[in-house]
Amino acid sequence: MSLHTQVEESSQDDELDVNPVYVRELSCEIPRYRLPRHGVLPRTALQVVRDELILDGNARLNLATFVTTWMEPEAEQLMAECSPKNMIDKDEYPQTAELERRCVNILSSLWNAPAGSQATGCSTTGSSEACMLGGMALLWRWRARQRAAGLDATKPNLVMGTNVQVCWEKFCRYWQVEPRYVPMVPGRLHLRGAEAAAKCDENTIGVVAILGSTMDGSYEPVLEISQALDRLQAGPGWDVPIHVDGASGGFVAPFLQPDLEWDFRVPRVASINTSGHKYGLVYPGVGWVLWRTPDALPDDLIFRVNYLGGEMPTFALNFSRPGAQVAAQYFNFIRLGHEGYRRVQQTCQDIALHLSGEVAKMGPFELLSEGKDLPVFAFKLRDDVTGYSVFDLSERLRMRGWQVPAYTFPDDMTDTAVMRIVVRNGFSMDLADLLLDDMRLHVRTLEHHPQTQPPPEIQHKRQSFTH
Ligand SMILES: Cc1ncc(COP(=O)(O)O)c(C=O)c1O
Repeated sequence: MSLHTQVEESSQDDELDVNPVYVRELSCEIPRYRLPRHGVLPRTALQVVRDELILDGNARLNLATFVTTWMEPEAEQLMAECSPKNMIDKDEYPQTAELERRCVNILSSLWNAPAGSQATGCSTTGSSEACMLGGMALLWRWRARQRAAGLDATKPNLVMGTNVQVCWEKFCRYWQVEPRYVPMVPGRLHLRGAEAAAKCDENTIGVVAILGSTMDGSYEPVLEISQALDRLQAGPGWDVPIHVDGASGGFVAPFLQPDLEWDFRVPRVASINTSGHKYGLVYPGVGWVLWRTPDALPDDLIFRVNYLGGEMPTFALNFSRPGAQVAAQYFNFIRLGHEGYRRVQQTCQDIALHLSGEVAKMGPFELLSEGKDLPVFAFKLRDDVTGYSVFDLSERLRMRGWQVPAYTFPDDMTDTAVMRIVVRNGFSMDLADLLLDDMRLHVRTLEHHPQTQPPPEIQHKRQSFTH
């Protein structure tokens, strides 16, 4: 979470301004940064907090996030009912634990775990925690292998593209694993097999393949990466496992690209994560991570909690976690079924392809992806368009509430500034057409009134979207 620092002493007692309509008392003191001496009525508190939040953007118009911003009222009701339940209290809430177990089983068959493999997994707070657990299992297994062979186990590395989500950078820093990045280059915006294999050596704990890339929504070719690693095993003999970061694609590919081999059909794929709160269609935060077989998950990472007189193995960074999201994930599974998920994801993809097709026709843009993998696409201004930038367009779109992020690509391509649109459930074709109308209007305006650059001190604030 963002780190916050104590505000200056002189502003700690600054008071919130409370509309007199909300209170019967003559005065109501709510200091901004200190605990108030007395409380207020719940309605007053509700109103005060709501009033603060009106400046937040409209979640439905947030085309920056991959995270679910709309659920059905029945799902919301279920989540409200389950909000007191703590996921870790397996004894107290055994049926919530059972729903988690069913979800893991449903995912293991969606991801084609071989029959009898006893694929094993758990829920997490999101993909970041799931990736952390996946990475730890890779690290622990590599260390055990090295030690068993009497080899050095102190210089682990992890191979991935520079387009990985920040959680992998965190994993490497927190666990002191050397990140070996394959740079993005124009024309190759994600990891490919040859480049991944070229970075591996005997200290590589694994390769991360992303389905799909946060930068442009494209899928990395898991099978091709696996085949390149097979050749490495046949050559120098390094047996490098793959972790698939399917934060978004884990809930898209099984429905839209069922023949694509990216999952446990590929024997080198040791583990897969996904975010239930992205295309799993649940509000944040829930993620999932599964290992092909129980032995892909080293035993000393597992803690055992007493559970209904027996022992329940757990693997998690947090202890307490909300149970509501797991119940909501199961709700979605039975509410939508396979065909329901397919229709939702297909609708998102139809809208993404419609949007990218129209953006391409507008003139000043060049598509970097179309939305054929994830329903996500990125585009940039043509090199000869110099009078304005994607940041200007992003800012202008905000005038009506659209949040379309503009950002620069990572190292080696930092001068490429792009916009990205993530189409999620709840963003309709009608909204897409309204967005296109607004984009056309703003492009025309910008062409006639090229922007002057804002002063340097606020220039950096324009890259206000992180991913
Ligand atoms: C590829 C990828 N991995 C990991 C994450 C982190 O996921 P979460 O927000 O669920 O922690 C994201 C988030 O966008 C992502 O796109």
